[in-house]
Amino acid sequence: MTKIPTISEIENAFQPAREADEPARFAGRTQAVLDCYYALLTAGSNIGIVGNRGIGKSSLARQLIRMATGDNTLVQKLHIPASERIDFVSMYFACGDSVANTEELLQRILTRSDCLRDWIYDIPKAKAEIEVYKPKIGVSVFGLEAEKRSEIRSDKAITDHSIDVVFSNVVQAIAQQKLAKHGILIVIDEFDRIKQPAGFASFLKALATNVPEVKFCIVGVAQDIKELMKEHESTDRLFAGSIVRLPAMTDAELSEIVRNAEKSIDEFIVFDHDATSRLVALAQGHPYMVHLVGKFALRSAFQRNVSKIVAADVDATLKGIAERGADPVLEGRYQKAVATSAQRESVLRALASKISRDGEVWTTEAYKVALDDDVDNSSQYVGQLVTEEYGAEIEKIRERFYRFKDSLFAAYVNARPRQFTLARPIV
Ligand SMILES: Nc1ncnc2c1ncn2[C@@H]1O[C@H](COP(=O)(O)OP(=O)(O)O)[C@@H](O)[C@H]1O
Ligand SMILES: [Mg+2]
Repeated sequence: MTKIPTISEIENAFQPAREADEPARFAGRTQAVLDCYYALLTAGSNIGIVGNRGIGKSSLARQLIRMATGDNTLVQKLHIPASERIDFVSMYFACGDSVANTEELLQRILTRSDCLRDWIYDIPKAKAEIEVYKPKIGVSVFGLEAEKRSEIRSDKAITDHSIDVVFSNVVQAIAQQKLAKHGILIVIDEFDRIKQPAGFASFLKALATNVPEVKFCIVGVAQDIKELMKEHESTDRLFAGSIVRLPAMTDAELSEIVRNAEKSIDEFIVFDHDATSRLVALAQGHPYMVHLVGKFALRSAFQRNVSKIVAADVDATLKGIAERGADPVLEGRYQKAVATSAQRESVLRALASKISRDGEVWTTEAYKVALDDDVDNSSQYVGQLVTEEYGAEIEKIRERFYRFKDSLFAAYVNARPRQFTLARPIV
């Protein structure tokens, strides 16, 4: 008999709140992994990872770091002929909302102990470089050693260095130590959240000349690297083809997530064929949705002592997800868009149900669906849905064509059951 899993094994079989860090849990993405592997080996090229929200960018970045530090588990799992162990000093930084511009970004990377800070203090030359800069960075960042600064400040020629020059000198000093064969890899996640990344591209350009041992990987929500860097000029040379654009996951890849989750609990509970298909279909390419819905379906099955999850269980789970606000952010956005109007809900759902492969919604089609709910003035609600008041989740592309700004939200709209029951006219 199979061993009964613990509650925590059940709870962690799916991981909606965490990146897929363990290679064994990382499903599919052969091409992207391959691109990352080669990008790491391409001298002088930075790396970009772009794609929609919840599509798996941070997870891929985690795998990139593993490969960069010599872990070839995934590469081997995917049967990629990888003879070479890659060796970078690697660090990861997620921007969050606290980084406003390029200067702050560089400062953060310099001063966090899980980024450059600990290396700096081990290397005298790097330390000397940062010491002179301290007065500008300020006490709050560097802590205790404020007293020594006044004397240093008089060395004007050096203190006038801007943060990018200091950064460049520091990483150069570290690179000269030859701590790792391939150099230094700095992953910056959530780059899209930096409000003013102006100057970052030219910083990269200068760095490529001065310290070619440093490789950046920038990750964020965008269609391409130009959009991510909010840069008008060409950035092609900086990335030399090493841009990984993550598409929606295929159904086979999404199913693999389900199989991996089952394996992690020794298949004590499984999703039957239809339940898997249902889960995969509602995810619309987003691994996040598989993890979110899968997690609650599994929890419920465990509680009910059921060993096989069927499609109806997945549907029942969806209802619970909306009610308990399992993802408060997505649910909050749904509430904002719908607010108190059953008609607006119909129109929002109609739009989400008619997204074509290229992400566009043709209103003529969507309005037909809304008409089934007896909404005959759909355009009025579309007019509301584009405004900030209702979350501006959709935007107009051209006459009669709209799109959801965030495909993950659209998938959530499709998956979530209706909030309002329709008042059907009495016949
Ligand atoms: N290749 C993958 N295999 C399994 N799960 C994945 C994979 N990629 C992403 N996920 C899961 O999907 C969710 C979103 O992934 P994440 O990397 O955080 O996306 P993003 O950074 O693009 O928003 C997480 O729960 C993560 O564990
Ligand atoms: Mg992420």
